[in-house]
Amino acid sequence: MSSKLTFTSRLPVAHAHPPTTRPHIGFGVYLSPEDVCKASCLTALKHGYRAIDTAQYYENEAQVGEAVRESGIPREEIFITTKIMTPEGSVEKSYQKCLKSVEDIGLGYVDLFLIHTPSSGPEGRKEMWQALERLLKEGKTKAIGVSNYGVAHIEEIKTFSDVMPAANQVELHVQCQQRPITEYCTANGINVEAYCPIARGKYLDDPTLKQIADSHNVTVAQVLIRWILQMGFIPYPKSDHADRIKQNADLYGFELSEEQMRILGMMDRGHDGAVVPQKTECP
Ligand SMILES: NC(=O)c1ccc[n+]([C@@H]2O[C@H](COP(=O)([O-])OP(=O)(O)OC[C@H]3O[C@@H](n4cnc5c(N)ncnc54)[C@H](OP(=O)(O)O)[C@@H]3O)[C@@H](O)[C@H]2O)c1
Repeated sequence: MSSKLTFTSRLPVAHAHPPTTRPHIGFGVYLSPEDVCKASCLTALKHGYRAIDTAQYYENEAQVGEAVRESGIPREEIFITTKIMTPEGSVEKSYQKCLKSVEDIGLGYVDLFLIHTPSSGPEGRKEMWQALERLLKEGKTKAIGVSNYGVAHIEEIKTFSDVMPAANQVELHVQCQQRPITEYCTANGINVEAYCPIARGKYLDDPTLKQIADSHNVTVAQVLIRWILQMGFIPYPKSDHADRIKQNADLYGFELSEEQMRILGMMDRGHDGAVVPQKTECP
């Protein structure tokens, strides 16, 4: 499968009507400061990234939109994701909060709107989902989904909605492979997006990873992101450095062998490998 991967590879957007596709790799902007974010996004777009992941919580939605407009790239070629962090107290108020994100981004619509975390409890999750459903109906977003959700959270959606999430964005890298939820999402046709794909640099000195990287004359970061692509998941690496932005997308001149994929598969440390406190198992 992996030898056919290219930078322009696309995946189907799960549960989209009519069917549509999305880039197989994107660019993340968490902790990208307001005064730097636009330049980083422009660099990413220049180097061929066509998906960007922001959030209300990141306080840089407007800068992402500015970069896209300034890039001159046709809107329909770009896939923008944002996220609602907390419920506002009613479906109407949460909807208005989301609408403000769409307006702040200023591109007419977003491609994917996610609930950032399940941690606000069942009523909050339901309120935010219903707000997103309204946004979807009105064409303000092309798809809706979730982040940091466990199996029980997604099953819960079925009790009050016919709309299944298009995506679940979770912390996902070699050391934190999230098997229960990724297997569930794959079985239910939900796109799995990988955040912290290079574990925020935590394992770049790992000798096994270094050995695999050296065998392909690439960096450990490239091995980590390539592993996600070969697993069929969607990585969102972040960087505010042009050389790294370019490097993190330079993944198509090598392929991890079956044996290397087997070795990497054994490096899972579950929650012990996570760099973000795990929320996916909470009821
Ligand atoms: N849904 C959620 O709850 C959630 C949570 C976390 C993240 N996310 C999303 O996922 C994206 C990625 O996650 P992340 O930013 O936390 O982690 P990441 O992409 O795994 O790592 C980013 C960190 O690694 C550094 N870095 C980037 N490329 C590198 C390279 N080639 N070599 C060495 N260091 C490198 C960056 O520094 P420089 O910037 O200085 O290069 C930054 O400190 C976020 O930006 C966000 O869009 C979502």
